[in-house]
Amino acid sequence: MVRMIICVCRGLNTAKVNDAIAAGARSPAQVHRHHDTTINCGKCCETVCGMIRETASANGCGDTRQLVAAE
Ligand code: FES
Repeated sequence: MVRMIICVCRGLNTAKVNDAIAAGARSPAQVHRHHDTTINCGKCCETVCGMIRETASANGCGDTRQLVAAE
């Protein structure tokens, strides 16, 4: 499995982001919090939001925009 770096600032790769999402993270801030980090530049947020939406829709959830935009 290829692990791509999602957050350059904090060194979060796809596996780490997916771990956080599987644990219930539903926003970039929650993904960072899961790994005891914080958002720095914010350039990863769009990609993280996309990963959250993909996971939610794969799990049968409907519109996840409110979940991501809540923080
Ligand atoms: S790339 Fe994630 S905070 Fe900068």
